[in-house]
Amino acid sequence: MPPLVDSFGRLHHNLRISVTDRCNIRCFYCMPEDAKNFQPRSEILTFEEIERFVQVAARLGVDKLRITGGEPLLRKDLPVLIRKLAAIPGIRDLAMTTNGVLLAESAPALYEAGLRRINIHLDTLDRERYRQITRRDDLDRVLEGIERCLALGFHPVKINAVAVKNLVEPDLAPLARFGRQRGVEIRYIEFMPLDSQGLWDRDKVLLMDDILEVLRREIGPLDPIPDQDPRAPATEFRFRDGVGRVGFIASVSKPFCLNCNRIRLTADGHLRYCLFALEERNVKTLLRDGSSDEDIARLIQETVQAKWLGHEINTSRFVPPPRPMYAIGG
Ligand code: 5AD
Ligand code: SF4
Repeated sequence: MPPLVDSFGRLHHNLRISVTDRCNIRCFYCMPEDAKNFQPRSEILTFEEIERFVQVAARLGVDKLRITGGEPLLRKDLPVLIRKLAAIPGIRDLAMTTNGVLLAESAPALYEAGLRRINIHLDTLDRERYRQITRRDDLDRVLEGIERCLALGFHPVKINAVAVKNLVEPDLAPLARFGRQRGVEIRYIEFMPLDSQGLWDRDKVLLMDDILEVLRREIGPLDPIPDQDPRAPATEFRFRDGVGRVGFIASVSKPFCLNCNRIRLTADGHLRYCLFALEERNVKTLLRDGSSDEDIARLIQETVQAKWLGHEINTSRFVPPPRPMYAIGG
């Protein structure tokens, strides 16, 4: 089968799979406090359906997977899915993004199932601010989860920190220092318009350059890492003293759409060509109505063919996607 090249020549080999839209915390930039309207169980793809989809995608050249949510560890028996996906011919890279709350308990089984790469979402090391952001008091559990992963040998372990202006400035340097001590890369993610309550506004985005300035002032010189993979979304820097690195997902100040290589499968079985896409294709119907693998492959190809050049967060034309982050899967 031909590889997934879109109409702008971008090759797509990276699939993000959301396994649930539910979450056990309530980060304000993603979910309302009283989040409801989650998909009923029957609408969520089964492990077998996800496995079949990935088998077809792998034949089209997809070789890189990331499991996301909501919070993926809320999905019962997740290691069973990890094991199935890791065994699919052609899949050479499998990672997960989690909020870490349930990680201390699940990490051994995930490791055993074949998972090695993990990103843990954590914006602050301050208990009060963690509670303010997530509306839950789980900081200690997340820290325990990080330590458990390091002890088991997960590599790399990265931390995703969403950068919201006038809120997390005091957390930037403490997180980077923690990363330096523990051998964990901190990735600062510019706040994106994906919250379900329309809270986003350009003035609330803490930009990469501003974060860099704080880190240089409070910790020390940082240099861009040479020869970075242009398809990687993060721009990476290392501390000049040789201890540790930080990354930035600068979706607002430096959009990386031109190098995008991703497609996204939502927990309820819809395929999207962009986090911000305003349209999506229904894979679940094909997975459930007896359609052939070729039909599924065609739908994947159509999705990639329909892909736009990029999101337009920086223009007045920008329209936020109808689904919030937790229903798309980061
Ligand atoms: N803007 C930027 N990043 C976000 N995340 C969740 N909501 C937002 C937002 N509005 C991040 C979380 C998670 C990743 C999947 O997306 O940090 O780790
Ligand atoms: Fe849950 Fe992640 Fe959304 Fe926070 S950002 S509420 S951890 S899905």
